[in-house]
Amino acid sequence: MKALVAYFSHTGQNWFGGGIVNLVKGNTEVVAEYIRDITGADMFKIETSKPYPDNYNECTDLAKEEKNKDVRPTLKKLPAGDLSEYDVIFIGGPVWWGTYPMAVFTFLERYNFDGKIIMPFVTHEGSHLGESVEDVKNMLKDADIKPGLALYGSNVGVSREEVEKWIQENIK
Ligand SMILES: Cc1cc2nc3c(=O)[nH]c(=O)nc-3n(C[C@H](O)[C@H](O)[C@H](O)COP(=O)(O)O)c2cc1C
Repeated sequence: MKALVAYFSHTGQNWFGGGIVNLVKGNTEVVAEYIRDITGADMFKIETSKPYPDNYNECTDLAKEEKNKDVRPTLKKLPAGDLSEYDVIFIGGPVWWGTYPMAVFTFLERYNFDGKIIMPFVTHEGSHLGESVEDVKNMLKDADIKPGLALYGSNVGVSREEVEKWIQENIK
């Protein structure tokens, strides 16, 4: 089965295990790379045309406003074509105010996912999946949405086995 990992991940200041740190590589990106290494999936990084601020408080304020207004930020680029070559699509992102960043929904609204296997995953600092999987289910009514995987962002470095187990359990 051909797979794609489409993910959003923010570098710069972030909340990490109880304090603010400067992340050079985002936590979700670490997980996306595990998935690529395990499955051979193609990767697509969801990036907004206007980057989010590096500053933690500015970023959280903007993200909150976008969530409250249900904004669909413009994306820097999109995969060419209609994704019909893919059987499985992993959708990843950090939990921002209880769900995926709005940019992930911009991506999801752009394509037809009917009949595809969707593997939702998030990294977080306490909300676990939050509303992320429910929000994807509401948007992609005719996709086969598997149980989501939630990993603490501060634990991604030691989470590869958990990712592998989740894939083995849900993709036969
Ligand atoms: C704007 C913003 C909002 C966040 N909101 C939440 C939240 O609601 N719940 C939570 O558990 N963690 C929240 N976090 C923490 C991130 O989900 C966590 O650090 C994640 O691993 C970041 O992944 P990334 O490095 O791939 O962007 C938030 C972080 C940011 C920057």
